[in-house]
Amino acid sequence: MRGSFIKLSSRALISFISVMSLWGCAPLSGADASLAASKTQVRLGVVLYNAADPFVVNICDSISRYAAEEEEASNIKIIIDILDSKNDQTLQNHQIDQLIKQKYDAIAVNIVDRAEAANIIDKVKEAKIPTVFFNREPVPQDMNKWNEVYYIGSNAAESGEMQGQILLNAIEKGERFDRNRDGVIQYVMLEGEPGHQDSILRSYHSIKLLEDAGIKTENLAMDTAMWKRGEAKGKILDWMDQFGERIEVVISNNDEMALGAIEALQAKGYFDNNKTIPVIGVDGLDQALQAIKQDKMLGTVLNNADEQGKAIFGKLYSLGAGVQSRVVLDYSADEKYLWIPHKIITKETIN
Ligand code: BGC
Repeated sequence: MRGSFIKLSSRALISFISVMSLWGCAPLSGADASLAASKTQVRLGVVLYNAADPFVVNICDSISRYAAEEEEASNIKIIIDILDSKNDQTLQNHQIDQLIKQKYDAIAVNIVDRAEAANIIDKVKEAKIPTVFFNREPVPQDMNKWNEVYYIGSNAAESGEMQGQILLNAIEKGERFDRNRDGVIQYVMLEGEPGHQDSILRSYHSIKLLEDAGIKTENLAMDTAMWKRGEAKGKILDWMDQFGERIEVVISNNDEMALGAIEALQAKGYFDNNKTIPVIGVDGLDQALQAIKQDKMLGTVLNNADEQGKAIFGKLYSLGAGVQSRVVLDYSADEKYLWIPHKIITKETIN
């Protein structure tokens, strides 16, 4: 049956962890011990909206790492199947049906289409399989359909505000982004997928923070590049042809698209001979950090994939195994939501 699942072979994505180890087994007490005694193995399913998305791969990497650590330290065998939904909700529904049919102990869902959450929640509720959504947030009405449904992610509005703050900090330090001196910052906005909470709220809050601080802005162009570098590069090339030097700032809903923007700008002669333009992203991908160090990017906002993966694994394991995971998280969480804070990254803060 396992063979019917799509297995991922990349370094980052494991489909199966089964190193049984009694080493380092911490004694459990009371209720935990009796629950643990009843389970020698836990089966966890993780479905990814698209394993071609570098940020999602980073989360997945982290889930795998913490699962391996947990197994090392406990006497419960951990089986994790990680499935790539290839940006196809029909495929994802099928994968979730399979996990349910095989009675997995807990499931983590990186949903393709947020509008599909109610349907998935109905199914896992009926099968009584606790489910953790991550990165792509269902609306509260859906989250409230069952008390064993959780969300782990980062607050989208906060990341947008921090993008605005990066620009504001630079302006307050004396950077002159207003090249044509008209008292207004002309910007273009690269957006992620339409309907994704991070696209909607990052676009809105980045600009709102500037406007609230008294900075006048004008949007020259704004369009989706679907989180993708290649599409973003194409958009910026078009916008450069259309607006040229009038573009004073490039704001991007994520780093992948910011990196695409940088490639386009470079092709148009930027970042050479002191010709520069501020580009701001979100995520904190390694290549974005490199671009910041090379003065090709003004800054990014850390969307902490490592901590998100850690929290997802910890929750999933605790729900599935019925014993507390060894993962320690210093974040406050309410019954259903756990939020990992963002952080501003600029040249000054990179060590
Ligand atoms: C990230 C994007 C990613 C998207 C996928 C966002 O939080 O910033 O890089 O493509 O999630 O859902």
